[in-house]
Amino acid sequence: MNINLVADRPTFVTHLECSMTGEHYPADQVHGLSRVGRPLLVRYDLPAVARAISRDRLAERPMGLWKYRELLPVRNTADIISLGEGETPLIPLDAIGRSAGARAPIVKDEGRLPTGSFKARGLVMALSMAKALGLRVIAMPTNGNAGAAAAAYAARAGIEAVIFCPADTPEVNVREIAAQGARVWRVDGLIDDCGKIVGEGARHRGWFDLSTLKEPYRIEGKKTMGLELAEQLGWRLPDAIFYPTGGGTGLIGMWKAFAELEAIGLIGAERPRMIAVQAEGCAPIVRAFERGERHAERWQDAHTYAAGIRVPAAVGDFLILDAVRDSGGYAVAVSDAEIERAVTDAARGDGLLLCPEGGATLAAWRRALADGHVRPDEQVVLFNCASGLKYPLPDRSGSLKREGPIDWDAL
Ligand SMILES: Cc1ncc(COP(=O)(O)O)c(C=O)c1O
Repeated sequence: MNINLVADRPTFVTHLECSMTGEHYPADQVHGLSRVGRPLLVRYDLPAVARAISRDRLAERPMGLWKYRELLPVRNTADIISLGEGETPLIPLDAIGRSAGARAPIVKDEGRLPTGSFKARGLVMALSMAKALGLRVIAMPTNGNAGAAAAAYAARAGIEAVIFCPADTPEVNVREIAAQGARVWRVDGLIDDCGKIVGEGARHRGWFDLSTLKEPYRIEGKKTMGLELAEQLGWRLPDAIFYPTGGGTGLIGMWKAFAELEAIGLIGAERPRMIAVQAEGCAPIVRAFERGERHAERWQDAHTYAAGIRVPAAVGDFLILDAVRDSGGYAVAVSDAEIERAVTDAARGDGLLLCPEGGATLAAWRRALADGHVRPDEQVVLFNCASGLKYPLPDRSGSLKREGPIDWDAL
């Protein structure tokens, strides 16, 4: 039995805060967006957290995101609905590094989590809180991975899930969502069109809208990527983090995690440069970054085969852009051809099958080396947010007739 899942530990949530205006909202109540329509962030009594945990105390606990309980919102241990969220490994791409003449970039491989993606982090937290707050039905738009994680954790929490995805969402995700008991609908539009249906359904049917950043707890789960990374690297952060950015919850969450870790004295003031990676066919954050804007206009005709980052508009756009700018990072778009090449090279050279979104971060690192955004000796972490097995793979096999003559020289 994992002690993190059964031990009663103190919790330190004080209130929720509007990310735009700073207005306070009471904890332990159901909340969506703030009054001005912006994400709510969970705040903790950080001096008290600092007294409760230390590097040594954390080192004694088993791995996995629930070890950071004092920095998480779930008050009662009985509300934790875990599927065994373990620590995800850091894997250096040695062959890729050698061929680029650079220090090997390190992949944080989030594909090892339940339901095969980092969405498990956010959704285990959101559904544990939904259970704690007594919610009965949740609804969500998804590009695939988030819906799969939502369905799994909702099943475990005994909560009904209604999921809407673009019609061309990777098939395995759509079927996985239904297999885990959710009602899933394919919509002839993009994720924000699905989000509108969820919003209307919330009004008509009383569903709770679990869209990313429209409720306060998915970001708290995603934040654990930053907590875990810091601990894995011996409480020293890398020089740069390349993050495949759709809604940007992971990037915003890690940025929040680093601030909290500094406030409780586990790290210093140094920060990695946060690099938001998008696809050329859907790059609203890159465009806003380049124009010096704080909000990103909706991207028209969004397209890329990296489904998870096909997000034309993000409710947390200003939080992504603030974090990127404050960190001294930047936003960059890569082409689908570069993504495919990166996926192929990492699989063949280093034996690591990245998802397309993970491939986008490798493609962006290669560009950064070429254009001087990153030096060859810098320590870089790339986020591979899902298992490469969740996406259609090209068929590169040959066929043999078992009784026919075999041309051995051709094999
Ligand atoms: C594999 C993958 N990478 C990246 C993303 C984007 O994540 P975020 O919403 O944190 O920007 C998603 C979201 O669907 C995803 O599934």
